[in-house]
Amino acid sequence: MKAVCWFGTHDVRVANVPDPTILNPKDAIIKVTLTAICGSDLHLYDGVIPTMEAGDILGHEFMGEVVEVGREVKKIRKGDRVVVPFPIACGNCFFCDRELYAACDNSNPNAWMSERAYGRPVSGIFGYSHLMGGYAGGQAEYVRVPFADVGPLKVPDSLTDEQVLFLTDIFPTGYMAAENCDIQPGDTIAVWGAGPVGQFTIKSALMLGAERVIVIDHVPDRLRVAQGQGETTVLNYEDDDVLEALHELTGGRGPDACIDAVGLEAHGTGLDAIYDRAKHSLKLQTDRPTVLRQAIQACRKGGTVSIPGVYGGFVDKFPIGAAFGKGLTLKMGQTHVHRYLRKLLAHIEAGDIDPTFIITHRLPLASAANAYSMFKEKQYNCIKVVLQP
Ligand SMILES: NC(=O)c1ccc[n+]([C@@H]2O[C@H](COP(=O)([O-])OP(=O)(O)OC[C@H]3O[C@@H](n4cnc5c(N)ncnc54)[C@H](O)[C@@H]3O)[C@@H](O)[C@H]2O)c1
Ligand SMILES: [Zn+2]
Ligand SMILES: [Zn+2]
Repeated sequence: MKAVCWFGTHDVRVANVPDPTILNPKDAIIKVTLTAICGSDLHLYDGVIPTMEAGDILGHEFMGEVVEVGREVKKIRKGDRVVVPFPIACGNCFFCDRELYAACDNSNPNAWMSERAYGRPVSGIFGYSHLMGGYAGGQAEYVRVPFADVGPLKVPDSLTDEQVLFLTDIFPTGYMAAENCDIQPGDTIAVWGAGPVGQFTIKSALMLGAERVIVIDHVPDRLRVAQGQGETTVLNYEDDDVLEALHELTGGRGPDACIDAVGLEAHGTGLDAIYDRAKHSLKLQTDRPTVLRQAIQACRKGGTVSIPGVYGGFVDKFPIGAAFGKGLTLKMGQTHVHRYLRKLLAHIEAGDIDPTFIITHRLPLASAANAYSMFKEKQYNCIKVVLQP
């Protein structure tokens, strides 16, 4: 079959690889009908996530048709059309019982790696490095899905692939990022990053009752889409002093919650951003916390800083004093996608949201190399690319 494989930094190619097979009685094989490139894939593309190996199959946002199931799979069968959450969860451990699916104890065969790095093992993720289990991803014609009774959700025929695909990751991610802010009527929420995750975060914050969302980015098309979402105010961090603007827009109090939908590859124009770039390129720090610092600095006293943006290692000049002094709550992590699937599918069915609003490019899987570079460089107004095998 054909699959999008990682061969090194900025080297992604479609290659011929063996078809996946059932390895465990709880597996299913899915014929992928639609897949997407995520901002998280760009961290792999940029080579900032360790433990990738040449030839690894990428992709954790995918859906398709079940073509084969292992003998212990009961809830889905051949012919079903399903979306598949990006974290892999067993459904039975201490963490799955508490709906902390992205913390599943049983889905990462390389648990020892993350245990060494993070003190405790993290769950497996499709197509996301050997640290996350070394699973083949779904930017491919076929993919093996472990724990097939736990992750995949059947989707109604009345909805198109494009309408439901983002249930696999970025819609729940934006939703959890907003939910983590415990939004109250009248709240002002600031969101850094108007990429796909940022856009779903804005939508979710408004759905959960935010009075106003202030969005920070520097890509004009993305800010325009953010502006079209309703009660939003946009700031371009290249033109505006973000901290000063947030101060003024909130009457000197600061946003009630600040959401970092950018993560470890943040860009910036200030002195601290230059410092981060230098330390990052010398490998003296793994992540660039430009946005995280701003979010903590801007947030009102007693507010929440919610972090859907991915961080992987260590950061420098972390303003713990400001976070402590203002009594902030910090919430973060990989999304517990399974927890949100049914609820968000119901919102799509009810017409509360049409997730296709972020799709700017529809390409064949064979064009993956160009698609990655276009998405990374934000060329041709690119916000989200979907790929069809
Ligand atoms: N927590 C999870 O489970 C989860 C799931 C999906 C994605 N993510 C992460 O969410 C983040 C965003 O994903 P995406 O798909 O939207 O990626 P993206 O790369 O398309 O978007 C990031 C946006 O941040 C903007 N940006 C960069 N520096 C900035 C700054 N200093 N201030 C404001 N904006 C800035 C960029 O211009 C870009 O528009 C990534 O880190 C991704 O890995 C996390
Ligand atoms: Zn993702
Ligand atoms: Zn589990």
